[in-house]
This record gives sequence, structure tokens and C-alpha cells, in this order.
Amino acid sequence: MTGEPSSSPAASGPAKPYLNNRRTSVLLREYMASLDAPKASHEAANEFYLRRLRFRAIDDSRPVGIFMQCEGDLMHHNLLFVHRSDRTGTNHMAIEVRDFDEVVEAGNYMTERGWKESRRLGRHTLGSNVFRFFHSPCGGRIEFAHDMDRMDSNWKTRVWEKAPPHHLWMVKFPGDTEQRGGGE
Ligand SMILES: [Fe+2]
Repeated sequence: MTGEPSSSPAASGPAKPYLNNRRTSVLLREYMASLDAPKASHEAANEFYLRRLRFRAIDDSRPVGIFMQCEGDLMHHNLLFVHRSDRTGTNHMAIEVRDFDEVVEAGNYMTERGWKESRRLGRHTLGSNVFRFFHSPCGGRIEFAHDMDRMDSNWKTRVWEKAPPHHLWMVKFPGDTEQRGGGE
């Protein structure tokens, strides 16, 4: 059989993640949720998640909300209740993809199918992940994310009286006016 190609994994090694430099699929690894709610209701929700469900406060941005990590994970955050005086609902769900290319390509896939981008490619300040946001078919928005910070048990909760800038950078087109202020 020498010289014949083999499809056996043992013979060919691990499956190739690339096909002619194109991904064969987008890997969805983690899900994170940000929910809008009035501040009073989240204080109770935060308390429940932090005390009862043993989430951990990673960054407490007083004007925005608490970025929480669930027990057993290292992600900067898995959950965030965003303080809102004017609305309640799903702010966004984030999907962690494999790399920077997939953030761009997942967004291009959505664009090609007519979904509207709500925030262009950029990098968050808290969490450090690169992002691209789309209005979601399910309501709220979808964030494609990669390269989020990991916090181990040595991390000490940071408290921010003033929200850090929302992003370190973001792709801009002529006429864009969005500022780098805090918020989600
Ligand atoms: Fe997010």
C-alpha cells in the first residue's frame, strides 16, 4: 500500500484545521452573555450569581456592571448585567471563535447574508478581546470574540469608579463618530 494516500487519522495525523488556507469551519468555544436591566434589579441578580452560583467578580465597573467569571473557567467574563435606566433585555451574546481571522470571517459571513453590523472590528479594554458585533436574529446582538484575557485564582477584583474606555481601538470609516467612552 506504500505510496497510496490514507484517510486513516492514525496515518495522516490530526485533522487539518485549514484547507488551502481557508477554514473548514468556525469553532464556537465559549458563550458569554450581557443583559440589560435597571441597576436595582441587577444588584439582586449580581448577589445571586456571586454568592449562590459562585461566579467571581473580575472587573467591577461601577457605571456599567460587574464582569463575572463562572466557577471553573478562566475567561475574563462569562456574564455581565449592564446597568440601564431605559431598557431591559439581552444586550448581546458573545461567541468565542478560534482566531482573529475568524472574527473577520464570521462577520463577513453574516454581512453576505444581509445581517447588519452594529459595531465594527475593534479590541475591548476590559477583557482585551477583539470583537465584531451584529444585530442578532434572536434579538439583541451577537459578538464574535477572540483573544479574551484569562484570569486565574491569583486575580484580584478591580473596581472602576469611572468606566474605562469601551475599546482600545476600532475600525473607523469617514463620518464615524463613536467615542471610546465606557459602556457596552
Ligand atoms: Fe461582550
